[in-house]
Amino acid sequence: MTQRTAVVTGGMGGLGEAICIKLARMGYKVITTCSPGNTKRDEWLADMKKQGFEFKAYEIDVANFESCQTAVAKIQSECGPIDVLVNNAGITRDTTFRKMDKAAWDAVMHTNLDSVFNMTKPVIDSMAERGWGRVINVSSVNGQKGAFGQTNYSAAKAGMHGFTKAAALEYAKKGVTVNTISPGYIGTKMVMAIPKEVLDSKIIPQIPIGRLGKPEEVAGLVAYLCSDEAAFVTGANIAINGGQHMQ
Ligand code: CAA
Ligand code: NAP
Repeated sequence: MTQRTAVVTGGMGGLGEAICIKLARMGYKVITTCSPGNTKRDEWLADMKKQGFEFKAYEIDVANFESCQTAVAKIQSECGPIDVLVNNAGITRDTTFRKMDKAAWDAVMHTNLDSVFNMTKPVIDSMAERGWGRVINVSSVNGQKGAFGQTNYSAAKAGMHGFTKAAALEYAKKGVTVNTISPGYIGTKMVMAIPKEVLDSKIIPQIPIGRLGKPEEVAGLVAYLCSDEAAFVTGANIAINGGQHMQ
């Protein structure tokens, strides 16, 4: 079988790196993206190379449609067709709604939700033409249950799953599955930015398993959804949250 190609947005972040490594171990050619001007890019690529992973990296502002269109065209011409897209890049701008300004709302909506349109639009029809594809949208437990201080993030993450369900219907007959995963609190820099007293007093006590999740645990779920065995799973929103929220 020809080697499949996966694009993981935000692949140099905590979850993204684990997803890139897992997919590479499964035999995918892995391409990642970072924000334009990311100063850690070359160092990260060199570090991954030392660990045996030959990733390619492209600068894309996922919040900007033209940036995504241009970069995806470049990826396709330099690396060939894209079989798997993991919409993983995301940000938080946490603050109570009382204090939230329009800039914090817009940044989170553009980066977490518009990005799903911006990246999926230039790749999914070519997946459908080839009769096989996987789109995985990395949402959050806080898109399912809401979170204090995250009206913007909870709205964007909930919106991702609305997209998933509609796109899954449109592409079901074409061999392309579209799924959402909703991780709980995972030990990456996004979670480490939460004030420690809030994490210890308000968040960890709500996780029945009693600890943060590990990026590798999330990567394992993404790997399953990318596999041929997952062909019957589409339009799903799969929770991976240590029991914090059950639907
Ligand atoms: N539940 C209930 N009350 C809370 C609360 C919570 N989780 N967090 C704060 N409060 C209360 C405080 O106790 C305080 O109450 P009083 O006024 O009665 O004393 C009040 O809210 C403070 O309100 P402020 O508007 O002054 O808020 P602040 O400037 O202190 O900041 C916050 C509030 C931004 C929400 C801050 O507490 C925070 O960053 N919390 C963490 C939010 C969070 O969970 N983010 C998740 C990031 S990780 C992620 O997003 C990944 C993922 O997908 C899981
Ligand atoms: P992270 O370590 O902060 O990584 C986020 C990544 O997104 C970074 O690599 C960043 O790249 C990229 N990114 C941000 N804005 C971008 C933009 N405009 N264009 C391109 N790339 C951009 O966070 P993480 O914890 O790994 O989170 C990854 C995803 O999982 C996010 O969507 C997050 O919402 C979701 N999630 C995380 C948790 C958790 O507990 N950690 C739980 C549920 C869901 P640059 O550094 O180059 O900007």
